[in-house]
Amino acid sequence: MKMRSNPGTELFAHTASTQDEAAADSQRVAPSQSLSARNRRRFLKGGMLAVGATAFGAGLAPSRLLASQDDNSAPITKGDIAILRFLQALETIEADLWQQYSELGGTQDNEVSGLHGGNVPYMQALQLLDGDMPQYVHDNTDDEISHARFLSNYLQSIGVQPVDLTPFAQLPSSKADGARQVGRLTNLTQLTIDTSFWSRYRSITNPDFDPNAVFAQAVPSLNVGMHTAIPRSNDDTAGSVINPDPTQSTFPDLLKAIAFTAGFHFAFIEQGGTSLYPTLAQHVTNLEVLRILLSIGPSETMHFQTWQDKAGNATPLTVVDKTNNSSVTFTALQNAQGETDPESLNGDTLQANLIMPEPTHFLNPKFGPVAIIRPTSTKFGGAQAAVNSLVQDGLFRGQKPLNNPELVRVLLQLAEEADEARRQL
Ligand SMILES: [Fe+2]
Ligand SMILES: [Fe+2]
Repeated sequence: MKMRSNPGTELFAHTASTQDEAAADSQRVAPSQSLSARNRRRFLKGGMLAVGATAFGAGLAPSRLLASQDDNSAPITKGDIAILRFLQALETIEADLWQQYSELGGTQDNEVSGLHGGNVPYMQALQLLDGDMPQYVHDNTDDEISHARFLSNYLQSIGVQPVDLTPFAQLPSSKADGARQVGRLTNLTQLTIDTSFWSRYRSITNPDFDPNAVFAQAVPSLNVGMHTAIPRSNDDTAGSVINPDPTQSTFPDLLKAIAFTAGFHFAFIEQGGTSLYPTLAQHVTNLEVLRILLSIGPSETMHFQTWQDKAGNATPLTVVDKTNNSSVTFTALQNAQGETDPESLNGDTLQANLIMPEPTHFLNPKFGPVAIIRPTSTKFGGAQAAVNSLVQDGLFRGQKPLNNPELVRVLLQLAEEADEARRQL
């Protein structure tokens, strides 16, 4: 474990490299300074209406204030590093779970999965949701590997040790055809999937406004008990009749349910990143670090949007899984259900093709509903909330010690440090 106990303490990488920049830094108005200083900045942001007016006062020339608005001069702070290290760790978790999906269900090539042939019944069962599913699984995996790699390389470039989670890659692989037999960080066979994101994005209610709002589950039974999203062994694919044309193949209900479970889990994972990046971005100081978050975050949203569209193609099905001692029921979400009036105020609209974000309350209801990512509040969301949602999801079931896995403790420590970051302009 190469992680430092207090990441970035001695590092203020990317501190101003020229004397001018250093001077600018020393004069930057700190958030803790007087209200009048902050008001001055508001004037600047408000379209320069007050330039030259007495509002500046305090001996600061407008040109000096303008220079201090150039965020390029802001150093990478300890908080920025904490955010980057947390995201690098989380992307490593994402890459680990997507790697497992891709080995079994993704298009097989040397780029992501290696040439292990995949699991043809699983790959074809996923295509019940969309004929392009294997390609999408492959590409989502490629993206997550790139996120983790980029953040690791970036941290090293500024002299910060990336988080190394390899000592925790202890969980077993699937025994089904296609899976490599290596240690894993995550467990995709005992998931409890919160599918309330489905109705949250179809509702006018924003959890940032009403943290106690109830959002209906798209698949209530996935949020109860444990469910596998990958075939655990060839027993889970037994009975499939495979045709070179996937539309002519037939599958046992258990394998269909496993594929549909994966479809909803894909969306669950990616909507988490969709909220996490904009939430953490609000605490970033350095402009380049902000650009990293603003550039990776929306790619998570692209993933989410794809997956929530595909998951809606699941067909009605009820299956009992004896291994997990659980059952799951999928209903026909694709049937038009109509929107409630006023626009799913109670978060109960599940109609599958409503994949564009329903306008929701934001900042103040007086502004009117607006189509946005939600939640993004730093009060209710952030790094620790993201880790806790993955724990609730069951991704780390089996990590030792069972009652308080060390991997979770490490992730929560990183998350706590990321959540403590504050924008310092
Ligand atoms: Fe990612
Ligand atoms: Fe992602």
